[in-house]
Amino acid sequence: MTTEQPKPIRHPQHWATAAMPPLQRFLAGCHAEFWPDHDGAVANYIPELGKADPAHFGISLATLDGHVYEVGDSRVPFTIQSMSKPFVFAIALDALGSDQVERVIGVEPSGDPFNSIRLNAENHPFNPMVNAGAIACSGLVRQARHGDAFETIRDALGRFAGRRLDVDDAVFTSEAATGDRNRAIAYLLRTSDVLKEPVDDVLAVYFRQCAVLVTARDCAIMAATLANRGVNPVTGEQVVTPYAVSRTLAVMTSSGMYDFAGEWIYRVGIPAKSGVGGGILASLPARLGLGSYSPRLDGHGNSVRGIKVCEALSAHYGLHMLNRSDDARTSIIADYDIGANPSRRSRRAQERDILAAHPDAVRVLELVGTLSFSNVDYVSRQLAGSARPQFVIFDLHRVTAMTQAGLRLLAELFRELADFHVTVVLSGIRRSSAEWQEITERTGDLGNVRDFYLLDTAIEWAEDQIVYRYGGAIDFIETTELAEQPLLAGLSGDERHELAALATIKHYQQGERILAAGEPANSLFFLRSGVIHVTLPDGIRLATLTAGQCFGEMALLEPLRSADVVADFSATAFEITLDDFERFRARHPKAGERIMRNLAQLLAERLTIANARLNLLAAD
Ligand code: DON
Repeated sequence: MTTEQPKPIRHPQHWATAAMPPLQRFLAGCHAEFWPDHDGAVANYIPELGKADPAHFGISLATLDGHVYEVGDSRVPFTIQSMSKPFVFAIALDALGSDQVERVIGVEPSGDPFNSIRLNAENHPFNPMVNAGAIACSGLVRQARHGDAFETIRDALGRFAGRRLDVDDAVFTSEAATGDRNRAIAYLLRTSDVLKEPVDDVLAVYFRQCAVLVTARDCAIMAATLANRGVNPVTGEQVVTPYAVSRTLAVMTSSGMYDFAGEWIYRVGIPAKSGVGGGILASLPARLGLGSYSPRLDGHGNSVRGIKVCEALSAHYGLHMLNRSDDARTSIIADYDIGANPSRRSRRAQERDILAAHPDAVRVLELVGTLSFSNVDYVSRQLAGSARPQFVIFDLHRVTAMTQAGLRLLAELFRELADFHVTVVLSGIRRSSAEWQEITERTGDLGNVRDFYLLDTAIEWAEDQIVYRYGGAIDFIETTELAEQPLLAGLSGDERHELAALATIKHYQQGERILAAGEPANSLFFLRSGVIHVTLPDGIRLATLTAGQCFGEMALLEPLRSADVVADFSATAFEITLDDFERFRARHPKAGERIMRNLAQLLAERLTIANARLNLLAAD
């Protein structure tokens, strides 16, 4: 039994008063459960390492949205040792190019301990995780960066961790003084031309990189950066390329735990790397990074408690990387056509008739989350299995990521649709975004892809095309009288003339703000020509109006304007003051009643559209 007492577990302050997130509780439970385990021994083949406090035990877990959980001695510094190897491999891949690195360093598991002097049949290191491969990597960085090699590595390790990292000079000196086995490996590598630089220069880089000081928290963030395709989830910095990350995780999977690697990936199933300083970091792609520190090691040179934490995390949450399934159907949050859910544009009767005759000419797919191989395949089958629309709008507002496979399938789908003369409209994606770049690079110039940032604008544009295609004319026509106004439907010609006589004609320039939210609402407007739109103060567009329609009519119900009205193109409108209008109503009570009924109907139509939209989103 241990005589050591567990130290109090540190939690970030705000959890003292609120419920603890389950993952924090889980990690605290692991800490308490494995604390009494005193198996293993602190490494002392590098004499300075033998001074580590065997009681230290810290755990940290970083999520890909940048949250970092910590328990115990998560801020105690220790030397990174072999945990530097995957990162330096990634740095070498990016700095020298994969050809040069892959030519001299293999990727096969050796089945040997980390410090084995055995090389493969070509006299090259088996992989970058054993000392021979790691020394070769340091040699390559030295070849590329000469005297700056170590600072290049230290700087990059710091960017993985999100802070500048120090070096433990005592550990460096201690290993430099005793590291003859590594010296022997390095000389051997020179005989097969894997190392081109002098052995002492390369080992100065390698020993110093092993002596970089990190904490369990740093390790979690570094591992999470690998899990996040090279983007540090805390700082947002892209530290290495996705190519370097996937190859690094591959060798961590097959060789990260040396001659325990097969067992590890079978039982735990999370790519990991250990160091004789007592650290283990584990990186589960697209999920999390884990760092642990406890210096007592087993016979393979892996931290005893660290292994238990990884095993517990994997077993408790079923996180084995091969134990996965995904429901591709969750990527479509709404799927409708303009018959079910038209744009917010108020349309004239002729346009409405055309659109009503072609309700499925425009199909809208609102997508969400990550567009992966399975998700895009599922989306493409939804399109294949139904009547062919003339326009398909893919709304990408809620898409958070696209995988390479997802992008490729999407590009192939666009090409397929182009062959069938279906126009693709993208909304919710900016031309300046990386995704847009990738989509256009992959699709080339298809000519059938349009984009509008706002979904409603995209739907409206597609509707316009349908109206044109079926012989309709849009906008820009002038209606100099009020006969077409739905708000005035049912009024006699005399009544309309009387109203027209009360009106003043207003002219607006393109882009001019006609009404502003919050202003007193003391007049009504009837659009004679041009196009205007109504937006809420936060920029949400409520409606686009063309000649023959009214705006500002809510003045009949509310004292203040609730929305902005802006001219899309130069426009003219009749303006009737509320006072004149009230006098007219007093003279013609029946007409006044009719107008209020028309207003109720207009509002009911808007409500029906809004409800249909809410239902669509709620149903998915
Ligand atoms: O080369 C060495 O021996 C040490 N600097 C690093 C070895 C190491 O961390 C092995 N990992 N478990």
